[in-house]
Amino acid sequence: MRTKIVAGNWKMNKTASEAAALIAGIRREVAEVSGVEVVVCPPFTDLKDAAAACAGSNVALGAQNVHWKASGAFTGEISAAMLKDLGVTHVIIGHSERRQYFGETDETVNQRTRAALAAGLVPIVCVGETLAERDAGQMEAVVVRQTLAGLAGLGGDVAKVVIAYEPVWAIGTGRTATPEQAQEVHALIRRTLAGLAGAAVAETIRIQYGGSMKPENAKELMAQPDIDGGLIGGAALEAESFAAIVRAGV
Ligand code: 13P
Repeated sequence: MRTKIVAGNWKMNKTASEAAALIAGIRREVAEVSGVEVVVCPPFTDLKDAAAACAGSNVALGAQNVHWKASGAFTGEISAAMLKDLGVTHVIIGHSERRQYFGETDETVNQRTRAALAAGLVPIVCVGETLAERDAGQMEAVVVRQTLAGLAGLGGDVAKVVIAYEPVWAIGTGRTATPEQAQEVHALIRRTLAGLAGAAVAETIRIQYGGSMKPENAKELMAQPDIDGGLIGGAALEAESFAAIVRAGV
């Protein structure tokens, strides 16, 4: 069935030398793990050293964003080809922090996803409602809209995408969605994917949960039928806790 995928979103943490040390620790911890895909997503400045630190291991390398243009006058941006050239294989797109603080929209999420796919990168497309949206009864509408708009026009390439469901109210708050709450939304996302790409393709797409996932709650969350891994923030910044979450997915 679906191979679980556990990815660490380091956000704006760790220098390049710290990244190399953290990855060395992670690769030691997960060397014997099989049956779970492991990805680390450090800041752009760390990627070159991180690629060297991941080489020859079962730890794959992801970035935290990608621009949709191939090159040009886009000061401060990074293209898919630049990532690819460093050995990056995955890229997080549309994280709620980018939507909230950096003007990311469903349209730019879609453009970035297309660029990532065109370069052969696996996009990890993030969706999720805020607390205000949940309280207003808009969770379903928001998650369905973000999923459909983010993946619009991809055709058969939808099958290559990973989705991360991250309820914004659970990110960095210590307030995890219950396994039942998360499962409900994951099933909704899978139904939405089935509408886009057909039920057979939807069954193959991994949907990660993100938001205060820790060694203590990871197993129960990933035991849910539609939760296929995790996108980990805080707990991904230490090798032991990240590896414990990876092992919970075995
Ligand atoms: P935390 O695990 O720190 O809540 O962050 C989740 C997240 O945003 C991962 O992308």
